[in-house]
Amino acid sequence: MPLTQTREITPASRLENVRYAIRDLACVADEVIAQGHKVLALNVGDPNIFDFQTPPHIIEAAYKAMRDGKNGYAPSPGIPEALEAIRREAARKGITSLRDVFVTSGVSETVDVCLAALVNPGEDVLTPKPDYPLYSAVLCKLGIGLNAYDLNEDDAWQPELADIERKLTPRTRGIVIINPNNPTGSLCTHRMLEQIADLARRHNLIVFADEIYDKLILEDTPHIAFASVAPDVPCVTFGGMSKNYLVPGWRIGWGMVSGDAAAVKSYTEGVHRLLRARLCANHPEQYAIKPALEGPQDHLVEVRRKLGSRRDLTQKWCESTPRVSCVAPRGAFYAFPKIDIPESDEVFVKELIRQKHVMVVHGSGFGQKSGTQHFRIVFLPDEQTLTKAYAGIAEFMLERYGEH
Ligand SMILES: Cc1ncc(COP(=O)(O)O)c(C=O)c1O
Repeated sequence: MPLTQTREITPASRLENVRYAIRDLACVADEVIAQGHKVLALNVGDPNIFDFQTPPHIIEAAYKAMRDGKNGYAPSPGIPEALEAIRREAARKGITSLRDVFVTSGVSETVDVCLAALVNPGEDVLTPKPDYPLYSAVLCKLGIGLNAYDLNEDDAWQPELADIERKLTPRTRGIVIINPNNPTGSLCTHRMLEQIADLARRHNLIVFADEIYDKLILEDTPHIAFASVAPDVPCVTFGGMSKNYLVPGWRIGWGMVSGDAAAVKSYTEGVHRLLRARLCANHPEQYAIKPALEGPQDHLVEVRRKLGSRRDLTQKWCESTPRVSCVAPRGAFYAFPKIDIPESDEVFVKELIRQKHVMVVHGSGFGQKSGTQHFRIVFLPDEQTLTKAYAGIAEFMLERYGEH
């Protein structure tokens, strides 16, 4: 009898809807690179592959921790000095009803843990559309069907309250808001946060406020933390080091639980059960959390100056290019222009890579209102690279679709 395994090992069917368009496009880029071309990558939200450098004092702190032997497992919720620093950060964000904080391996793990700790089969969580694809991927993994609410492009990409009301079911447990937003670069208004809080109160929802880009605001308005507007509403605010402190490869994120103490108590215990099961977040890197949050913030001035200039260049191009229109981004480093073309945005994006070697991500990869087409630009590259990329996109559109 042969002992070799011949039948195919198939993945779980619940993974069928897991999409990560950003990485899926890499196959098309690989074709182009294999032909000897250089691809202009406007698709990945990693500042470190462009002209943004990690502040040296943060690197020193992690290095020192490794040298000092902090290389074993950390406490499951995180090391005490990092937790204290995150508590003080919550206070600076205006969060007055903080109940708990914990450290994770990136906000990716905060999302994973917080959703897994909440939903039972048959329940749902409202997520924005367009969204950051991690949310739908985690919900798929949990076997939870998507329940996406629209962001309204005609209202500067604010959540569309009427659509949220329509999508609410008796089994809806929570709502995700991403502010500043990926992929649109929008900011929620104070009024909008109040309205979402009101809705959460009426429907007994927990709010997941993804504020990973809260220090990357590109204008003079301060960022408004959801939990500061609604201290009574159960909320987990997500924050991390990847974007604000330019260390996405370190995988450091955190959750800040706030709201009525009795309302969040047993949910928080559930979160900690999962945190213990996965042992801990990266250990030595946690020693950089306090120096990051409380040390010099000079790099942020430089990061915002560069991003502001690149945002302006991007917006100018969108305004002057036929078939393109865009709500001006106000935070993070993304723009999500609408395009008026006679084919799908996925075909547009793939052909753009093949013909002009410029890589952006199609709007359908994030979910979007049916009948609309968009693409997402990451405007992290320098002005010269962006100018070249935008010239390529304009040329491509003219050649493929003609004059408008
Ligand atoms: C809105 C949003 N949330 C979470 C993440 C994941 O962040 P982390 O690197 O901390 O896992 C990203 C990364 O791009 C993001 O854009």
